[in-house]
Amino acid sequence: LPVLIAALAVGYLLGSIPFGLILTRMAGLGDVRKIGSGNIGATNVLRTGNKKIAALTLMLDALKGTAAVLLAARFGHAAGLVAGLGAFLGHIFPMWLGFKGGKGVATYLGVLLGAAWPGALVFAVVWLATAFISRISSLSALIASVSVPIALYLIGRPGEALLCLGLSVLVFITHRANISRLIAGTESRIGAKG
Ligand code: G3P
Repeated sequence: LPVLIAALAVGYLLGSIPFGLILTRMAGLGDVRKIGSGNIGATNVLRTGNKKIAALTLMLDALKGTAAVLLAARFGHAAGLVAGLGAFLGHIFPMWLGFKGGKGVATYLGVLLGAAWPGALVFAVVWLATAFISRISSLSALIASVSVPIALYLIGRPGEALLCLGLSVLVFITHRANISRLIAGTESRIGAKG
Protein backbone atom coordinates (compact mmCIF):
# COMPACT_ATOMS: atom_id res chain seq x y z
CA LEU A 1 0.00 0.00 0.00
CA PRO A 2 2.76 2.58 0.74
CA VAL A 3 4.04 1.98 -2.80
CA LEU A 4 0.61 2.76 -4.24
CA ILE A 5 0.26 5.92 -2.14
CA ALA A 6 3.72 7.05 -3.25
CA ALA A 7 2.80 6.28 -6.88
CA LEU A 8 -0.40 8.32 -6.57
CA ALA A 9 1.52 11.26 -5.04
CA VAL A 10 4.35 11.23 -7.59
CA GLY A 11 1.83 10.89 -10.43
CA TYR A 12 -0.19 13.77 -9.02
CA LEU A 13 2.87 16.03 -8.77
CA LEU A 14 3.92 15.28 -12.35
CA GLY A 15 0.37 15.72 -13.63
CA SER A 16 -0.09 19.02 -11.83
CA ILE A 17 2.62 20.75 -13.92
CA PRO A 18 0.48 23.12 -16.05
CA PHE A 19 2.52 23.07 -19.26
CA GLY A 20 -0.04 25.09 -21.23
CA LEU A 21 0.14 27.93 -18.73
CA ILE A 22 3.94 27.80 -18.38
CA LEU A 23 4.68 27.62 -22.11
CA THR A 24 2.28 30.39 -23.13
CA ARG A 25 3.76 32.64 -20.43
CA MET A 26 7.30 31.83 -21.53
CA ALA A 27 6.37 32.58 -25.14
CA GLY A 28 4.91 35.94 -24.09
CA LEU A 29 1.40 35.00 -25.17
CA GLY A 30 -0.19 36.19 -21.93
CA ASP A 31 -2.44 34.20 -19.62
CA VAL A 32 -4.11 31.41 -21.59
CA ARG A 33 -6.86 31.32 -18.93
CA LYS A 34 -8.04 34.72 -20.15
CA ILE A 35 -8.65 33.70 -23.75
CA GLY A 36 -11.06 31.39 -25.58
CA SER A 37 -12.53 28.73 -23.31
CA GLY A 38 -10.15 29.73 -20.50
CA ASN A 39 -8.75 26.19 -20.44
CA ILE A 40 -5.02 25.54 -20.03
CA GLY A 41 -4.97 22.71 -22.60
CA ALA A 42 -3.51 22.52 -26.10
CA THR A 43 -6.83 23.29 -27.85
CA ASN A 44 -7.09 26.61 -26.08
CA VAL A 45 -3.37 27.36 -26.44
CA LEU A 46 -3.98 27.02 -30.19
CA ARG A 47 -6.44 29.91 -29.89
CA THR A 48 -3.44 32.17 -29.15
CA GLY A 49 -2.49 31.49 -32.77
CA ASN A 50 0.80 29.79 -31.87
CA LYS A 51 0.71 26.27 -33.34
CA LYS A 52 4.16 25.27 -32.07
CA ILE A 53 3.37 26.14 -28.46
CA ALA A 54 0.02 24.34 -28.79
CA ALA A 55 1.73 21.21 -30.15
CA LEU A 56 4.33 21.38 -27.38
CA THR A 57 1.57 21.70 -24.77
CA LEU A 58 -0.16 18.63 -26.18
CA MET A 59 3.09 16.64 -26.14
CA LEU A 60 4.21 17.61 -22.66
CA ASP A 61 0.73 17.27 -21.08
CA ALA A 62 0.60 13.77 -22.59
CA LEU A 63 4.19 12.82 -21.74
CA LYS A 64 3.83 13.72 -18.06
CA GLY A 65 1.11 11.04 -17.92
CA THR A 66 3.29 8.52 -19.75
CA ALA A 67 6.27 9.34 -17.52
CA ALA A 68 4.21 8.88 -14.34
CA VAL A 69 3.03 5.44 -15.48
CA LEU A 70 6.45 4.23 -16.64
CA LEU A 71 8.29 5.48 -13.54
CA ALA A 72 5.86 3.80 -11.16
CA ALA A 73 5.46 0.63 -13.24
CA ARG A 74 8.94 -0.41 -12.09
CA PHE A 75 7.20 -1.17 -8.77
CA GLY A 76 4.47 -3.21 -10.42
CA HIS A 77 1.61 -2.89 -12.88
CA ALA A 78 -0.83 -1.63 -10.25
CA ALA A 79 1.60 1.11 -9.19
CA GLY A 80 1.83 2.23 -12.82
CA LEU A 81 -1.93 2.48 -13.15
CA VAL A 82 -2.28 4.35 -9.86
CA ALA A 83 0.44 6.82 -10.90
CA GLY A 84 -1.41 7.36 -14.17
CA LEU A 85 -4.59 8.07 -12.24
CA GLY A 86 -2.58 10.48 -10.08
CA ALA A 87 -1.22 12.31 -13.12
CA PHE A 88 -4.70 12.63 -14.62
CA LEU A 89 -6.08 14.01 -11.33
CA GLY A 90 -3.05 16.29 -10.94
CA HIS A 91 -3.68 17.79 -14.36
CA ILE A 92 -7.35 18.43 -13.64
CA PHE A 93 -6.93 19.52 -9.98
CA PRO A 94 -3.46 21.11 -9.61
CA MET A 95 -2.91 22.53 -6.14
CA TRP A 96 -0.73 25.29 -7.64
CA LEU A 97 -3.72 26.75 -9.49
CA GLY A 98 -6.31 26.52 -6.73
CA PHE A 99 -7.21 23.03 -8.00
CA LYS A 100 -8.48 24.55 -11.27
CA GLY A 101 -6.58 22.77 -14.04
CA GLY A 102 -7.25 21.30 -17.44
CA LYS A 103 -9.80 18.93 -18.90
CA GLY A 104 -7.55 15.86 -18.94
CA VAL A 105 -7.59 14.90 -22.60
CA ALA A 106 -3.87 14.99 -23.47
CA THR A 107 -2.91 13.47 -20.12
CA TYR A 108 -5.45 10.67 -20.64
CA LEU A 109 -3.77 9.87 -23.96
CA GLY A 110 -0.34 9.90 -22.32
CA VAL A 111 -1.45 7.61 -19.49
CA LEU A 112 -2.87 5.18 -22.06
CA LEU A 113 0.39 5.24 -23.97
CA GLY A 114 2.24 4.09 -20.86
CA ALA A 115 -0.37 1.76 -19.41
CA ALA A 116 -2.36 0.23 -22.27
CA TRP A 117 -1.07 1.23 -25.70
CA PRO A 118 -4.01 -0.28 -27.67
CA GLY A 119 -6.17 2.16 -25.72
CA ALA A 120 -3.93 5.03 -26.83
CA LEU A 121 -4.24 3.86 -30.42
CA VAL A 122 -8.05 3.76 -30.20
CA PHE A 123 -8.11 7.13 -28.47
CA ALA A 124 -5.88 8.75 -31.13
CA VAL A 125 -7.68 7.22 -34.12
CA VAL A 126 -11.17 8.05 -32.85
CA TRP A 127 -10.10 11.56 -31.83
CA LEU A 128 -8.49 12.25 -35.22
CA ALA A 129 -11.40 10.80 -37.21
CA THR A 130 -13.97 12.83 -35.24
CA ALA A 131 -11.85 15.97 -35.47
CA PHE A 132 -11.37 15.46 -39.20
CA ILE A 133 -15.13 15.32 -39.69
CA SER A 134 -16.35 17.81 -37.08
CA ARG A 135 -13.35 20.10 -36.48
CA ILE A 136 -14.42 20.19 -32.84
CA SER A 137 -11.84 19.25 -30.20
CA SER A 138 -14.23 18.68 -27.30
CA LEU A 139 -16.57 16.43 -29.33
CA SER A 140 -13.57 14.40 -30.47
CA ALA A 141 -12.37 14.01 -26.88
CA LEU A 142 -15.82 12.93 -25.69
CA ILE A 143 -16.28 10.29 -28.40
CA ALA A 144 -12.72 9.01 -27.93
CA SER A 145 -13.34 8.78 -24.19
CA VAL A 146 -16.44 6.64 -24.73
CA SER A 147 -14.56 4.37 -27.15
CA VAL A 148 -11.54 3.53 -25.00
CA PRO A 149 -13.15 1.65 -22.07
CA ILE A 150 -15.30 -0.32 -24.53
CA ALA A 151 -12.30 -1.19 -26.71
CA LEU A 152 -10.16 -2.26 -23.74
CA TYR A 153 -12.98 -4.42 -22.42
CA LEU A 154 -13.47 -6.05 -25.82
CA ILE A 155 -9.78 -6.93 -26.16
CA GLY A 156 -9.83 -8.62 -22.77
CA ARG A 157 -8.35 -5.97 -20.49
CA PRO A 158 -11.23 -5.44 -18.01
CA GLY A 159 -9.04 -3.93 -15.27
CA GLU A 160 -7.75 -1.13 -17.45
CA ALA A 161 -11.20 -0.77 -19.01
CA LEU A 162 -12.65 -0.07 -15.56
CA LEU A 163 -9.96 2.49 -14.74
CA CYS A 164 -10.57 4.18 -18.10
CA LEU A 165 -14.29 4.22 -17.47
CA GLY A 166 -13.51 6.32 -14.39
CA LEU A 167 -11.23 8.65 -16.37
CA SER A 168 -13.84 8.96 -19.13
CA VAL A 169 -16.56 9.92 -16.64
CA LEU A 170 -14.23 12.65 -15.36
CA VAL A 171 -13.60 13.83 -18.94
CA PHE A 172 -17.36 14.26 -19.36
CA ILE A 173 -17.49 16.23 -16.10
CA THR A 174 -14.60 18.53 -17.10
CA HIS A 175 -16.32 19.10 -20.46
CA ARG A 176 -19.73 20.07 -19.07
CA ALA A 177 -19.48 23.64 -20.42
CA ASN A 178 -18.39 22.22 -23.80
CA ILE A 179 -21.34 19.80 -23.78
CA SER A 180 -23.74 22.71 -23.20
CA ARG A 181 -22.16 24.57 -26.12
CA LEU A 182 -22.32 21.46 -28.33
CA ILE A 183 -26.02 21.08 -27.59
CA ALA A 184 -26.58 24.80 -28.23
CA GLY A 185 -24.58 24.54 -31.46
CA THR A 186 -22.12 27.23 -30.35
CA GLU A 187 -18.97 25.16 -29.71
CA SER A 188 -15.92 26.61 -31.44
CA ARG A 189 -13.99 24.78 -34.14
CA ILE A 190 -10.33 23.81 -33.94
CA GLY A 191 -8.12 26.76 -34.69
CA ALA A 192 -10.94 29.31 -34.49
CA LYS A 193 -10.25 32.14 -32.08
CA GLY A 194 -13.61 32.10 -30.29
O1 G3P B 1 -8.75 19.11 -24.60
C1 G3P B 1 -9.77 19.94 -24.22
C2 G3P B 1 -10.72 20.03 -25.36
O2 G3P B 1 -11.44 18.83 -25.46
C3 G3P B 1 -11.63 21.20 -25.25
O3 G3P B 1 -10.88 22.37 -25.06
O4 G3P B 1 -10.52 24.80 -24.91
O5 G3P B 1 -12.27 23.87 -26.45
O6 G3P B 1 -12.62 23.80 -23.99
P1 G3P B 1 -11.62 23.78 -25.10
